[in-house]
Amino acid sequence: MMISITSGKGGVGKTSLVVNLCLALAPEYRILLVDADLGLANVDIMLSLAPRVTLRHILLEGLPMSKAVVYSGYGFDVLPAASGVAELVQPDSDMKEILELGLKSLAEKYDLVFFDTGAGIGHVVLWFNCLAEHIVVVFTPEPTSLTDAYALIKVLYRDYGRQNFLLLANQATEKEGEQYFSHLERVLQHYLGLSPHYLGAIPRDQKLEKSIRQQKPLLVSDPESKAAQALNQIARRLKRLLF
Ligand SMILES: Nc1ncnc2c1ncn2[C@@H]1O[C@H](COP(=O)(O)OP(=O)(O)OP(=O)(O)O)[C@@H](O)[C@H]1O
Ligand SMILES: [Mg+2]
Repeated sequence: MMISITSGKGGVGKTSLVVNLCLALAPEYRILLVDADLGLANVDIMLSLAPRVTLRHILLEGLPMSKAVVYSGYGFDVLPAASGVAELVQPDSDMKEILELGLKSLAEKYDLVFFDTGAGIGHVVLWFNCLAEHIVVVFTPEPTSLTDAYALIKVLYRDYGRQNFLLLANQATEKEGEQYFSHLERVLQHYLGLSPHYLGAIPRDQKLEKSIRQQKPLLVSDPESKAAQALNQIARRLKRLLF
C-alpha cells in the first residue's frame, strides 16, 4: 500500500514526521520510505545515510530501482533521492514511467510504502499523490499552512478525483489540532463535499528539533518526549485506518 505524506506549505514537518512514523510501524510491517522530493533530497540527511546510488542513477542512468534501496538502520528501508539535480525536479514522461513501474514492482515486497513529497501543487508533488492510495496532508496552525492545505486538496480532488485524505496537525496542541481540523473539515465538506479523516496532533517540541540536528530519529533519541508519544499514537491510528 502506497501512502504519501504531503503539504501545501513547505517546512511543516513532513520529513521529520514520516521518518518517525516509519520507525513506529517498523516492528509490525515491512516498510519502504521513498524520498519523493526528487531534486532536493532530505530523508538521507535526517537519517544520516550516505547513499551511493540514488533515484538520480535510476532515472538518468537506467540502473534498476532495487539497486538504490538502502537499510535505514531502524527497521525499515529507504529509497533515497538526489540533492541539487535540476533534471529531476521536472521529470519527463519517460522518467515518470520508470518511476511508476519501479515503485509498483518494489511495493510488492513491502506492506507499506511512504512517499515523503515536496511541498506545494507542483507537478511532481501531484504525481506522487496520485500514485498513492492514501494521502496524508500535514498542516500547522499557521493561516498560510491551512489555506495551502486546502488549495492542495482542492487541486487533487478537482483535477485528479482524489478523495481519501488524512489530515495531520504538526506543531499544534491537541486542542489547536482539533480546532483547525474541524475548520478544514467544514470548508472541505462545504465546498468540495469531502470528509477527511483526522490523524491527530504533534506538539511543538524542542526535542524534535534537537533530534533533527543530531540526525537521529526522535523515537530513538527521545522516545519518552511529548512529540514521540504523539507520534506513536498517530502511528496506531494510521494502522487502524489502513488495515
Ligand atoms: N513538532 C515540531 N516541534 C518542533 N520543531 C518542529 C516540529 N516539526 C517540525 N519542526 C521544525 O521544522 C523544520 C522543518 O521540518 P521538516 O524538514 O520535517 O519539514 P518538511 O515539511 O519536510 O519541509 P520541506 O517542505 O522543505 O520538505 C525542522 O527542521 C524542525 O526544526
Ligand atoms: Mg521534507
